[in-house]
Amino acid sequence: MKNYIVHDEWNIIEEGFRPAYNEVSESLFSIGNGRMGQRANFEEDYSGKTLSGSYLAGIYYPDKTRVGWWKNGYPEYFAKVINAVNWIGLHVKINDELLDLANCDVRSFQRRLDMKNGLLIRSFDAKLQNGTEVRIESTRIFHLFQSETASLKYTIQVLNQQASLQVVSYMEGDVVNRDSNYDEHFWSFISSGSLNSQLHVTMKTKKTDFIVRADLVNNFTINDGAIESELSKEGSCISETVAVSVGINDVFSIEKRVSIVSSQNHAAAELMSLGKANLENISSLSYQEIRNKQALAWGNFWNESDIQITGDIAAQQAIRFNIFQLYQTYTGEDSRLNIGPKGFTGEKYGGVTYWDTEAYCVPFYLATQPADVARNLLLYRYQHLDKAIENATKLGFSNGAALYPMVTMNGEECHNEWEITFEEIHRNGAIAFAIYNYQRYTGDWSYIENYGLEVLIAISRFWAQRVNWSAEKEKYVILGVTGPNEYENNVNNNWYTNTIAGWCLKYTLESILTLKDSNHTKLICLFEKVGFNNEESVQWQHVIDYLYYPIDTELDIFLQQDGYLDKEQVLVSDLLEKERPINQKWSWDRILRSCFIKQADVLQGLYFFEDQYDLETIRRNYDFYEPRTVHESSLSPCVHAILASKLGNKAKAYEFYLRTARLDLDDYNNDTEDGLHITSMAGSWMSIVEGFAGMRVKDNTLSFQTFIPKTWESYAFHVQFRGVKLFVKIKQDDFELINKSNQEISVIFNGEAGTVKPCA
Ligand code: BGC
Repeated sequence: MKNYIVHDEWNIIEEGFRPAYNEVSESLFSIGNGRMGQRANFEEDYSGKTLSGSYLAGIYYPDKTRVGWWKNGYPEYFAKVINAVNWIGLHVKINDELLDLANCDVRSFQRRLDMKNGLLIRSFDAKLQNGTEVRIESTRIFHLFQSETASLKYTIQVLNQQASLQVVSYMEGDVVNRDSNYDEHFWSFISSGSLNSQLHVTMKTKKTDFIVRADLVNNFTINDGAIESELSKEGSCISETVAVSVGINDVFSIEKRVSIVSSQNHAAAELMSLGKANLENISSLSYQEIRNKQALAWGNFWNESDIQITGDIAAQQAIRFNIFQLYQTYTGEDSRLNIGPKGFTGEKYGGVTYWDTEAYCVPFYLATQPADVARNLLLYRYQHLDKAIENATKLGFSNGAALYPMVTMNGEECHNEWEITFEEIHRNGAIAFAIYNYQRYTGDWSYIENYGLEVLIAISRFWAQRVNWSAEKEKYVILGVTGPNEYENNVNNNWYTNTIAGWCLKYTLESILTLKDSNHTKLICLFEKVGFNNEESVQWQHVIDYLYYPIDTELDIFLQQDGYLDKEQVLVSDLLEKERPINQKWSWDRILRSCFIKQADVLQGLYFFEDQYDLETIRRNYDFYEPRTVHESSLSPCVHAILASKLGNKAKAYEFYLRTARLDLDDYNNDTEDGLHITSMAGSWMSIVEGFAGMRVKDNTLSFQTFIPKTWESYAFHVQFRGVKLFVKIKQDDFELINKSNQEISVIFNGEAGTVKPCA
């Protein structure tokens, strides 16, 4: 755990240069706009610890997998979001010495992520080995108002003597990934050049053939007067150089504006003209105008999605950081894109889609953005339905059964580990649950009618085939799975998996009946399309009626899986601190034999399906499982925060909230350097809105059951619900509900039903 980020309500601030933490900071200060993003790498050269990373949404490479013993059904490749063109690069020479913070005396260094306005700002004074003292300030902006463009401004001032300055501003297309399995380069060079002071580099990804074109304009000035530059080009690297002499009061500045377009979004033949047009567009704006537009775009977002906390700056900073990073990753207008667990902040997890999206991110987008955004996340899976059917077919299922991949970029499974690929089938359930959640929240039945039911049928077919009849139990069982708790492999009857499978079959049958009533013709067309007949629903009903759910009658709890209680029952509190995290300190064999739980498993099911269980049942299970949970997945604390809130355990709820929300800011798990935990950031939002404020949808009505942590004066947020924008403020002894739309809304607030009329 680290504690070097200055607490501030709207900014993430690092004061002082910490080379040892540079990769952590590069992750924390990442900046993006939903279409592309970047780690906070320095513009100038740096020979210290650094992981350079610039990523473009949806541009990936199918890297060849590395497995010891190939088994049938393994994915052919492991998809990777690839490090893309480096457009920020500068080589800065001052009195013939290269500026490199690893070799200077660095003073008054500050890095600041201005979340209100969407800016990354860095400044420092440094003394070079040749004695020259310089002051640098840089500001980087990934334009939210025009997402295929970005800009930066970099100023240099010498502080103690006249100096000769040589600055090379470059753009390099042939960048590499650190996690390339076979040290391959993922890009092929197509062309580079310049036209009317506009530089360009065009690259193509190997195998996937994405063409990416970056156009760049450099603008060098001294005290606002333009300076001539010299162009040079070496394959995939194109640069402009200026050499000038500067005095103590001079301000040397370079502004870089870039457009990055790709064949993923445009016809390849149009990339050149688009790049030119994009650049003309942003070049017509002054630096100040760009900043203003950026502030406006982020302002609009914050008006809808901010959570304000008074009385606790660390908590305030953390929730804004989580919300900011989440939106930088996914803004929701493109249904081909999704939310990688690391977003644009690192290479780990390959930028691909996990069940995290449906289980954790959908609720955030449902409540803070127009319904289209969550709908796009659902459509993403609808568009991959054929691949999910293909995937299940490869594994031996038939009749249109679908198994969605655990990890995907384009609908194909691309994870390296068999336990996850073949066994973590519960992800199918989360995809179905998100459809239900969308319908429950928005009241929009049309999604199920047009797309969702087809997905539900295919998923249900999978469950109906994946169960088998146990003659001994006289029940259907689900064997050989891995539940959300990945510290158990190949277990039988994981309660969570069985529960979501049974629920899914039931929900699909109910949805079929609803569509039968509302649009019979449509249902008939769908049945014809997917070849569904009544016999199937009879078999499904049999599975629903006879599905096995492991329980322990003595403890009166749901059993995580068959035989769970045969394990030695010890608690996390029995573990020595030096043994944690167990995934770094213990052998895998020891982990598998232990009772320790990586993340919510039975409790994940109780969170999803809480309406089916009484409070005492939830409490008994929580009290049994939480003390055995090591929370070694970032997705774990938030579910526990929500359940602890529901059970009235305020102190625990708050503890879990902070653990989720400050996970990266304080580097709890010592892994922030790999990138941020973007998907669990949605869990931080959930901890407040669904946890502390207890927001639920009950019978089409928004309901709140609130509490406020004792150190907070108040917290407040907006939610969008079926055309109404509701402002909710909870204070220690009071609350406020303001309806900011023009239609009234029924609300249940702390058990009391009422209506909130429009405010004006
Ligand atoms: C968790 C999974 C999750 C994945 C990506 C793993 O550590 O156990 O549940 O899907 O990370 O976030």
